[in-house]
Amino acid sequence: MDAPAASSRDLAAVLRWYVEQGLDETIGEEPIDRFALPAAASAAAPMAAVAAPPPARPPSPPPVRTSPPAPAARPPVPLESPQLVEDARALAEGCATIADLEAAIRSFEGCALKRTAKNTVFADGTPDAPVMVVGEAPGADEDRLGKPFVGVSGQLMDRMMEAIGLTRAGGFYITNILFWRPPGNRTPTLAEQAMCLAFTRRHIELVRPKVLVLAGGVAAKAVLDTAEGIMRLRGKWASYRLSDGTEVPTMPTFHPAYLLRTPASKRQSWMDLLAISKKLKELA
Ligand code: URA
Repeated sequence: MDAPAASSRDLAAVLRWYVEQGLDETIGEEPIDRFALPAAASAAAPMAAVAAPPPARPPSPPPVRTSPPAPAARPPVPLESPQLVEDARALAEGCATIADLEAAIRSFEGCALKRTAKNTVFADGTPDAPVMVVGEAPGADEDRLGKPFVGVSGQLMDRMMEAIGLTRAGGFYITNILFWRPPGNRTPTLAEQAMCLAFTRRHIELVRPKVLVLAGGVAAKAVLDTAEGIMRLRGKWASYRLSDGTEVPTMPTFHPAYLLRTPASKRQSWMDLLAISKKLKELA
C-alpha cells in the first residue's frame, strides 16, 4: 500500500522541527531527493540542505560502576582559529572597566555569529548587584531588542529571582556566554563558546559578584570547564576562582527554557533558589 502523501501541515511541522534544531539555512541550489539515490551514492553525496530526524534508538542499559566516577574532563576545543581566541583574551584582559569590556565586545569581529545577528547582546541589570547570572546565548527576542533574557524564558527567570527578592533593579545582573544569537538558536559550537568565554571570564572578574548563577548546561560546562552535565551539576555549590584568588560561590541551575518544557523540574530549581537566598544571607 502506498504511503499517504504528506500534508502541508506535516511538512510545516517537519520544517519547524528543522528550525528548532538550528537548521534554518539552505546550502544547496537544488534539493536532493535522498530517497531516490542508491544507498552508496546517498552516503557519498554532499550534505543535503537539511538532515533527516535521527532514528529512535532503544535506550542503552545503565553503566555498571565499580568505583566513584572521576570528574569528567571537557574535551579539547576544536578551534577554528586559536588565534581568534587569543585575540579575544588579549582584548578582554586590556579592559579595566565594564564599559571598556562592552565596547571591546561590540568592536570584536572575530566571531562569525556577529554577521548573522541583528544586535550585540551584552548585559542587563545592575553590575554591583550581589548576584550575577550567566546564561547561554541570546534568542530571537534578545537579538531583536539587544538585551539578554527578555523573551519568555527571561520572564520566567525574572519571576524566579523575584521569588527570592531579587530584581534587575539592584538584585541581579545578567549576561550570556555568547553575545550574538546563533542562527536558529542552535547550540553554540565549542569554538564560538571559547571565543566569547574569554570576554565572559573578564566580565565576571570585573563584576566580582557575591554569588554566580549559571543557567543551563552550556553556561555551567563552559564557565566551570567541565564535561559534567547540568543534571549532575545543578543544586551543588561550585566555586569560581577570580585571578586574585577570591572564590565566588557558584550555583549551576536549570535554564528557564528547560523549565518551560519540563515544568516538573521547577521544584528542583526552587531548591536552588532557596540555596542562593540562604548563601546571600550568610554572606551579608
Ligand atoms: N536564553 C539564554 O540563555 N539567554 C538569553 O538571553 C535568552 C534566552
